[in-house]
Amino acid sequence: MCGIIGIVGDEPVADRLIDGLKRMEYRGYDSAGICTISNGRLVRRRAEGKLANLVDVVSQDPAGGNIGIAHTRWATHGAPTTTNAHPHATEHVALVHNGIIENFKPLRKELLDDGRRLESETDSEVVAHLVSREIENGASPQDAVKTVLPRLRGAFALAIAFRDHPDLLIGARLGSPLVVGYGEGETFLGSDALALAPLTQEIAYLEEGDWAVITCDGATIYDSEHVEVDRSISTSGASAASVEKGNYRHYMQKEIFEQPTVVAQTLSSYLRLSDNSIAMPQFDIDLSAVGRITIVACGTSFYAAMVAKYWFEQFARVPVDVDVASEFRYREPVLEEGGLALFISQSGETADTLAALRHCKVNGQIIGAVVNVPTSSMAREADLLLPTHAGPEIGVASTKAFACQLAVLAALAAHLAVKKGRMSREEEQEVVAHLLEAPAALNAALDHDDDIAAMAHLIAPARDVLYLGRGPDFPLALEGALKLKEISYIHAEGYASGEMKHGPIALIDEHVPVIVIAPSGPLFEKTVSNMQEVQARGGKIVLISDAEGLEEAGDGCMATIEMPKVHPLIAPLVYAVPVQLLAYHTACVKGTDVDQPRNLAKSVTVE
Ligand code: F6R
Repeated sequence: MCGIIGIVGDEPVADRLIDGLKRMEYRGYDSAGICTISNGRLVRRRAEGKLANLVDVVSQDPAGGNIGIAHTRWATHGAPTTTNAHPHATEHVALVHNGIIENFKPLRKELLDDGRRLESETDSEVVAHLVSREIENGASPQDAVKTVLPRLRGAFALAIAFRDHPDLLIGARLGSPLVVGYGEGETFLGSDALALAPLTQEIAYLEEGDWAVITCDGATIYDSEHVEVDRSISTSGASAASVEKGNYRHYMQKEIFEQPTVVAQTLSSYLRLSDNSIAMPQFDIDLSAVGRITIVACGTSFYAAMVAKYWFEQFARVPVDVDVASEFRYREPVLEEGGLALFISQSGETADTLAALRHCKVNGQIIGAVVNVPTSSMAREADLLLPTHAGPEIGVASTKAFACQLAVLAALAAHLAVKKGRMSREEEQEVVAHLLEAPAALNAALDHDDDIAAMAHLIAPARDVLYLGRGPDFPLALEGALKLKEISYIHAEGYASGEMKHGPIALIDEHVPVIVIAPSGPLFEKTVSNMQEVQARGGKIVLISDAEGLEEAGDGCMATIEMPKVHPLIAPLVYAVPVQLLAYHTACVKGTDVDQPRNLAKSVTVE
């Protein structure tokens, strides 16, 4: 959700600011803008729509200067127009913001009553004016920021430039991430280490309430009490190359094809091959005492949680509640002291999930976080950090992060079962052996890419598509529907197969493709019966199963997709591949913007 970057340097910054925005475009792409300071003036360039439009604007009307800030926007307050694009500026101050200023209405009224003219509909512009008013009244940049920050409610990462101080920028964070990057005679601000990857690897992560004054010589960081603090500088693993598309047409495609590698990479930190056991990271928590698990997440990560519920309950016999993060706190969940609360998130910054995590923390839960960004807020606030090692995920639709989340959750469920005495040593070894089969099985699933691409022509004309699955394949049906709707804009729904007859079957006719996810196994017969109910009503089926399942039930289907025969434990990882590929190729047939679908952003840091 919005990406921000700032550079105080000793050579021109405009191109580097735009390059930084390119690395963050996945965070939002409704509009973009930069502001530099040149010859004692704030030089602002903005454009609505994709970053390419800003590039055009800047090439026609360059922005000089060795210091500047930039922003790529995911609109919250105000339409994605040029006027609402950041940076917002007064004569004295320019500012970029990621987050939401919840009390912007009274602040805006105060500024208007004070005779100030605001030009945008955004919440962010009020902050530029509040800071500017202090500067106009004679305050230093530091004092202006000190006065304004305590007045802001909500979430923000800010970068502020001051016309009369072309040697410094001020950054501040509360609720939205912000890092300081240290270069040779240059210092940077950025929403994440990836944005700064080509500029520096030396990164300090600001903590909640921190603000920082950056100059060419480095940064002075203050906490929320305005006390100067040290924040450790670490070398980020983010590499410029890791955010390239390589030979792939889209990031999403590249990330789907990376799954065998990143799942193997992830499993290697959770499985000990010397004795085929599960090896969790070291932590001082007695998991054998855990009597209840609460899992909270959003979107695709929520579907990973739904799959994991089957594993935790089946292996460890521990009851599991699974909640969508945006609903969790509002249903006043019963949280027994000492329960395990698990948060699943690719970004580790999703505002709803983070708020749920903090709610559980103050309610005495052990906090576990399955996250892909090891420096994210969730990673830092967890008692038990379980990283996925998917590498940067740039495509807005999550794919490889999901597979890695499942790998970690399967290992954790088995580990918990061992700790609780519910899984014997032999059974643990079997689980490890099955998990180790996942990378090869994912490769085998990917071999069907061409067949699935051909099939996408059958799905692309549809107005509605249904996905059916039973047991752990039900969350996959939901995931398949989510993938299809977000990137191809076709309306899609996922249902538990047995639920069809309770209503949704009324939708069935020859125009509604029904994708059935059904590996052969104990639940197969029941799902096939539900599939036949659809066929009897003229429904067109795409059956995704293994050779045995297709042999038994493939006749009469509009199309079939053959998956390798796999153990049920790893089936959710493997069967995610065809639903991802089907959505991907359908979107390609429709010609939508696969990596940056409309209205979406990769990292949703507002509630
Ligand atoms: C769907 C998708 C989203 C995310 C959701 C949670 O393809 O990517 O539904 O899964 O926004 O994001 P994280 O996992 O970063 O918390």
